[in-house]
Amino acid sequence: GVDVSCLRTRAGVITLDQGYANTGSCYSGITFVDGERGILRYRGYPIEQLARQSSFVETVMLLVFGELPTREERAAFRTMLGDTALLHEDLMHHFEGFPPNGHPMAILSAVINSLGAYNPDLLDIQTEEEFRKAVAKLVSKVRTIAAFSYRKSAGLPIIYPDPSRSYCENFLHMMFSVPYKEHVPTPEAQKALSQFLLVHADHEQNCSCSTVRMVGSSEANLFASVSAGICALWGRLHGGANSAVVQMLENIRDGDLTVKDCIEKVKRKEFRLMGFGHRVYKNFDPRAKVLKECATNLLASLHIKDPFLDIAQELEEIALHDDYFVSRKLYPNVDFYSGLILRALNIPVNMFPVMFAIGRLPGWIAHWHEQHLEENTRIHRPRQIYVGPNIRDYILMKDR
Ligand code: ACO
Repeated sequence: GVDVSCLRTRAGVITLDQGYANTGSCYSGITFVDGERGILRYRGYPIEQLARQSSFVETVMLLVFGELPTREERAAFRTMLGDTALLHEDLMHHFEGFPPNGHPMAILSAVINSLGAYNPDLLDIQTEEEFRKAVAKLVSKVRTIAAFSYRKSAGLPIIYPDPSRSYCENFLHMMFSVPYKEHVPTPEAQKALSQFLLVHADHEQNCSCSTVRMVGSSEANLFASVSAGICALWGRLHGGANSAVVQMLENIRDGDLTVKDCIEKVKRKEFRLMGFGHRVYKNFDPRAKVLKECATNLLASLHIKDPFLDIAQELEEIALHDDYFVSRKLYPNVDFYSGLILRALNIPVNMFPVMFAIGRLPGWIAHWHEQHLEENTRIHRPRQIYVGPNIRDYILMKDR
């Protein structure tokens, strides 16, 4: 179904590849995806091994700096994260300026971009030390900004970060602690959040990553490039899909739709089965497998019986044996089970794409940096096949 055609111009041949399905935009050594076989590796390490044995912070270091850190390197980076978690007091005024029900994704992208105004020394990164500083700031502050945007949207007082807590624990603390009553997430909840973030950490040239590279190709700074990535992620067909899945499961649970009706409507193309299908995976998305197991374990450890898990499994079971899905190679993607984990962690639905953004941040940074280090890069500037009117003479207002 990919429309690939070409047009010969005086400048050469322009190929048209709608949605860039078969167009390579760069060389990259960060993430390997084999969509036919359902394989995903970060810097060569299989996603399943990382999800089982690594943590989100360690995976951030792997993606961004290229290798798994030593114990000392990881401890030093964790200290940097702790030291940079707070926001500049002036930046706090931005939160007061947003309306109470402002979408946290809009707040996140705006405040991340404004970090450039508070860090003028990092607008033109020249050394690895400056880069490391910018990485720590972004990775640490994105979690603070995300939690503050939730507290703002829920009309709750802000809870400041606590550097003695681990990355995931600190985030859940800022989200859910209340004055005089600290939220202490279980180890299983922390592990589930770490796994959720880790499997989202990079996925090569997806829409948001390509956006970061597109913006970065003009030599725009890291904060601006990443902020553009957040905007690209917001859409329903990308990072917004996880909340759309939960909405769909909710409609089924509330009796507006049966599982069978849902599948039939999808086959009649009335809507898409959210959390299914992928541009690259024509097999099971390996991230969906990790997250399905993660959701099942988390719900069991919290003694939660979530009807959404049963509905999701029923949908998956029917779809995997239905010719419509089989012939189009449509399988569950990363978003199909991720919402169940977020629900179990009490994350509100409007925060789902924000959670995706926190997870994807290291991938965006790694790609921006890879591009930044390349010699002979060119500004990204695709061509088009013009289909508008041919030359015509200007029409005076009185004659229109
Ligand atoms: N439900 C029903 N049919 C689907 C679905 C779906 N979820 N996805 C694709 N199809 C069908 C299309 O209608 C098309 O059918 P046709 O050949 O009869 O016209 C065929 O499968 C191919 O679909 P394309 O649109 O060409 O696939 P594309 O690669 O452009 O889109 C995408 C990929 C956007 C992920 C798509 O599968 C989709 O919309 N899925 C639902 C949204 C979703 O879950 N997004 C999250 C993606 S993962 C991520 O961003 C992290």
